[in-house]
Amino acid sequence: MTATIDLTETIDWPAYSPTEPTGLPHLTVIGTGYLGATHAVCMAALGFEVTGVDVDADKIARLAAGEVPFYEPGLGELLTKALDSGRLRFTTDFAEAGRLGDVHFLCVGTPQAKGSDAADMTYVRSAVRELAQHLTRRTLVVGKSTVPVGTAAEMTALLQELAPAGDQVELAWNPEFLREGFAIEDTMTPDRLVFGVASAWAESMLRAAFEPVITEHATPVLVTDLHTAELVKVAANSFLATKISFINAMAEVCEVTGADVSGLAKALSYDTRIGGRFLHPGLGFGGGCLPKDIRAFRHRAEELGAGPAVAFLGEVDAINLRRRSRTVDLVRELAGGDLSGVRVAALGAAFKPNSDDIRDAPALDVAASLQRAGAIVTVYDPAAMDNARRKFPELAYGTSAMDAAIDADVVVLLTEWVEFREIDPAALAAVVAQRNVVDGRHALNPVDWRAAGWTYRALGRP
Ligand code: UDX
Repeated sequence: MTATIDLTETIDWPAYSPTEPTGLPHLTVIGTGYLGATHAVCMAALGFEVTGVDVDADKIARLAAGEVPFYEPGLGELLTKALDSGRLRFTTDFAEAGRLGDVHFLCVGTPQAKGSDAADMTYVRSAVRELAQHLTRRTLVVGKSTVPVGTAAEMTALLQELAPAGDQVELAWNPEFLREGFAIEDTMTPDRLVFGVASAWAESMLRAAFEPVITEHATPVLVTDLHTAELVKVAANSFLATKISFINAMAEVCEVTGADVSGLAKALSYDTRIGGRFLHPGLGFGGGCLPKDIRAFRHRAEELGAGPAVAFLGEVDAINLRRRSRTVDLVRELAGGDLSGVRVAALGAAFKPNSDDIRDAPALDVAASLQRAGAIVTVYDPAAMDNARRKFPELAYGTSAMDAAIDADVVVLLTEWVEFREIDPAALAAVVAQRNVVDGRHALNPVDWRAAGWTYRALGRP
């Protein structure tokens, strides 16, 4: 597990006086969720004047008071410094955003639509409509949200129709690749910047809006057309999801052959053409991006007549979901074939460590399925307890891993937080009813656990 880099200490805060122009474009960030709040804070840290805008007055009030409404290591400290610098403000007023902004970043969510695999574009459309009516001079609007290919063309038409400045308003696309838990690092020092543009002016404005990121870290900039920029994001997430499902498919084969997928993954990882990242087998992917992005991509490709090209993403999704049911099966096997009345300690609720995000979280999906099958489940997670309780009030919750494991018949590790990896198997053995552990994330050392008297099981391992 990589340690999170604390960038809050290393930033050399540029001096700022409200009366002296910075010479940099004024940035607005429309939508202050995970992506937008991080982008607004980081850009202010880099020296820009930034206005964060959202329709959610509560969220805006919390951010303006220095409170980050989600868990992201280091972001709270950085928000406080950004607010203190005077360069960052928050508002619900789109007119203010229109007046101040030279470059407007669209960072609103595109969740999976209800009852469909498509992306729900409601928030993107309404943000564009709200903003457009206040654009009275030449400005650049930059889409960062993950969208179906073709959105930029549709939004350009909408903007130019509704904006008083008409075709003086341009749209560009700049996909965002930030990972939760590493959001500051990924925003300040991204692997690459992709600028999807329709004109040289749009490119020059984007270069100005990312000047410190480009020059201080020699970040590669790829300039593309709008369609390519939209596709880069979904293609990247599809590739990552495919890589995870590939190794989990190998785990299924290992299970019927007696081979060990951990050794297999390690042996593959030494081939530099393959590489070891995103080749970690286990319970599979979840979160607010990978699952919905591969579904929306498939849906959009079908609409465009390219369905067969990405039909394999349906299989990627199916492999991923099978990992969850197979984890339930492993717990059932360890419990002797029947889950009724079996006490299970579920370690983890977030979709991954260093996050309180439970969107499409494999961990909670498994915990809830175990409970539905008759088990008595107690969940513990270091960060996601409040979110988990709200979504699954029917589950029981412990105050620590140790507490959740009291009298457990089976312990199941579902999110690989460092504190779970470091559990002393002998100490845990002292509180459980039976020493059965299912390692859903291949995060524990089977030798140590077996030596402490545990029956250890993991997907794809003998
Ligand atoms: C992802 C992309 O990485 C990021 O570039 C994009 O902008 C948003 O979506 P994120 O959702 O924060 O980021 O999570 P990520 O770290 O990619 O993990 C996704 C899921 O895959 C997690 O549930 C994780 O547990 C799982 N995973 C990851 C595996 O199961 N195996 C692996 O080897 C890697």
